[in-house]
Amino acid sequence: TGLGKLYENDFTIGTAVSGWTFSQNDTELLDLVKHEFNSITPENALKWSRVHPAENEWRFDIGDRFVEFGLENNMQIVGHVLVWHSQVPHTIFQDESGNAVSKNILLKRMENHISTLVDRYKGKINAWDVVNESVTPEDGWRKSPWFEIAGPEFMDKAFHLAHEADPDCHLLYNDYGMVNPKRRDFVVKMVKDFQKKGVPIHGIGMQGHFSLDSPDITEIEASIEAFASTGLRVHITELDVDVLPSRWSSSAEISNRADYSEELNPYTEGLPPKIDDKLTKRYEDLFKLFLKHRDKIDRVTFWGTTDAQSWKNNFPVRGRTNYPLLFDRERNPKNAYHAVAGLK
Ligand code: XIL
Repeated sequence: TGLGKLYENDFTIGTAVSGWTFSQNDTELLDLVKHEFNSITPENALKWSRVHPAENEWRFDIGDRFVEFGLENNMQIVGHVLVWHSQVPHTIFQDESGNAVSKNILLKRMENHISTLVDRYKGKINAWDVVNESVTPEDGWRKSPWFEIAGPEFMDKAFHLAHEADPDCHLLYNDYGMVNPKRRDFVVKMVKDFQKKGVPIHGIGMQGHFSLDSPDITEIEASIEAFASTGLRVHITELDVDVLPSRWSSSAEISNRADYSEELNPYTEGLPPKIDDKLTKRYEDLFKLFLKHRDKIDRVTFWGTTDAQSWKNNFPVRGRTNYPLLFDRERNPKNAYHAVAGLK
């Protein structure tokens, strides 16, 4: 039947699609996407550095094909992402001599970017991640160049500009680690502040890059409830479950130590059944939770479709064999898929 159809009365089920899928015209994968999902997000194609690599240069080819595919298949189309400190040309923060630009110039550049992009897909892209990752768990605002140059008002302005360009579009604040109580509280405070000031925001995106046993289901639930209590819709925007040992180390360090590399990449020959069982149980618990809160949740999007293309093979360490999604490297449904489908 397909997950999208199974869950159609609860929330949409989405997947991030890579630019490569469109440029290679991987019709087999696109058929799987059509069959299983009713929402799509472009994994990288609409990020600033891809779509707008230099001041007067726009590359819309992949974005256009992505949107066309969504329209042809009657899907919810999500735009990702308008304002972020990552995957953005560093030149937007600089003048010709390499010094930091003024707040005024930076906000003008942001205005040009948002207005052009949102306007191009007006009425087609249904929801945009307007601002991504601008909060840290430790001390509130992330000290990104956006924040350093323009102060937190860059966010207010970004939402207003997106809303002006497409008044019907659903606008989101998106971040990771949204289960951390400090970040949760800060985001709730920030959203209430937006609402007081009349900043047009409609949803909160919890990325959902989880691992096998963290965060705790009760903590995820606390965040869903806290975010929904603001009156905004909750979206799970980038769901995956990392099954590998986590260790924040540089790839250089790892390639120097064979034992270390084995420790960090233990399942190159396949996922042992015991771990696959844990993954299945984890997905089952997550979807039970999402179903329990279906009145608050609009969408659950996976960050990728099959294990083969997942960014988790390369993050936080390059060249690992990870198993974070519902479809295996041969594009077949895993036990976790059947568990999620079986809840309906
Ligand atoms: C990731 C992509 O999956 C990778 O292909 C890319 O190299 C880096 O970005 N949070 C986000 C996403 O909001 O845009 C990121 O996507 C994953 C983390």
